[in-house]
Amino acid sequence: MEKFLIYGNTRLSGEVSIGGAKNAALPIIAATLLVKGVTTLNNVPDISDIENLCEILECLGVHIQRTEQHTLVIDATRLKTTHAPLDLTSRFRASYYLLGSLIGRLGKGEVGMPGGCAIGQRPIDQHIKGFEALGCTVDTTHGKIAVKSKKLEAATIYFDVVSVGATINNILAAALVPGTTTLYNVAKEPHVVDVANFLNSVGADIVGAGTDQIIINGVKSLKKNCTYSIVPDQIECGTFMIAAAATHGDVLIKNCIPEHMDSLTAKLIEMGVTVESENDTIHVTCNKRLTPTNITTLPYPGFPTDLQSPMGVLLSIADGTGIITESVWESRFQYVDELNKLGADISVSNSTAVFNGVEKLYGAPIYASDLRAGAALIIAALVATGYSELYNIHYIDRGYERIEEKFKQLGARIERLDEEEEI
Ligand code: UD1
Repeated sequence: MEKFLIYGNTRLSGEVSIGGAKNAALPIIAATLLVKGVTTLNNVPDISDIENLCEILECLGVHIQRTEQHTLVIDATRLKTTHAPLDLTSRFRASYYLLGSLIGRLGKGEVGMPGGCAIGQRPIDQHIKGFEALGCTVDTTHGKIAVKSKKLEAATIYFDVVSVGATINNILAAALVPGTTTLYNVAKEPHVVDVANFLNSVGADIVGAGTDQIIINGVKSLKKNCTYSIVPDQIECGTFMIAAAATHGDVLIKNCIPEHMDSLTAKLIEMGVTVESENDTIHVTCNKRLTPTNITTLPYPGFPTDLQSPMGVLLSIADGTGIITESVWESRFQYVDELNKLGADISVSNSTAVFNGVEKLYGAPIYASDLRAGAALIIAALVATGYSELYNIHYIDRGYERIEEKFKQLGARIERLDEEEEI
């Protein structure tokens, strides 16, 4: 186990480049199972969730080569089983995308009940509703999800809640089903659009991704030997935007898509941060204590729940009281106790947190409770006076590539140490 030693009172400055989106790369890697041949993916982040997914694909018989740090060459010509190892699939959430792809390719699949960050109840009823509408039977007993169908049929599916996972999984399952499948009340996140773009680039016929309704005209097969580049990571970009603001920094963020950041940019500007966007860069500067604001997390294009905890750090040091209402995951305020250890003044009641801004935070030993909370606590430690030790950083490695290197590039003093190592 490792920890970060983080020295505070840091003002971040310089340039940082954003990598490929974890939440797009995971389903797109799963989607390569639909291609009977080789697919090359560029801009794939080098993070532990991707490593885990590749390990599972290899167990299914897929051949994968990381030819460069961010390039995967995936050969799914032959699959030897539709049963993904339960222990591996249970390690992280996105393993459920294998179901959509396996159903689409072979009409059946089995994975362990998905794991992932403990940020609240994570039901999969909407995934199942879609699979059943496409003609599958689904068994969720014995800690696994087993799906099979005699014959898949195009369907009209109206989701009861807007779900990224259910939207993508049903796109994957329906891409090769003859006829027209229509999904209503779908998620519109950039990673949903990226999955549809990838599938269209290999010959699928999917229309409407990024709107409330997606139409999938099933095609017979997908093209092999295609190359696709994963979209930049919206959440990594937002993390660095907030870090720049919180540390009163001056940071140029490169290789990002500014329009994906609109809801965050609007909030930062409202609080007094200067944000200048151009083509694929965002320049964030801040030189004063910020005005508080109120935020409600929502599906895209609303304020992303995955940036709620970094934003909580910003509110904890704002000049007054701000409120965050978390409407997506009910257990996403676990980082609050850690921020309060650093001297913040935050109280939580159900899905609402009230942040009474303090002038200073002070370094302390703190614990990441999940991936995004971990990133938020790095920002808090960079702001705090003194030094902090941040534990449970394996959560952060699930979704951010070499995060400490990127912060170091911006002038942060942050070291990765063995958990036992004395300072
Ligand atoms: C994805 C992201 C996660 C992000 C979330 C919301 C990945 C790997 N993870 O998670 O980082 O926080 O989107 O942007 O891409 N729900 C149901 N039934 C379902 C599915 C979901 O009720 O069948 C509910 C959930 O409890 C939650 C909401 O819908 O309240 C959104 O969940 P969903 O969009 O599915 O999140 P994930 O795809 O798991």
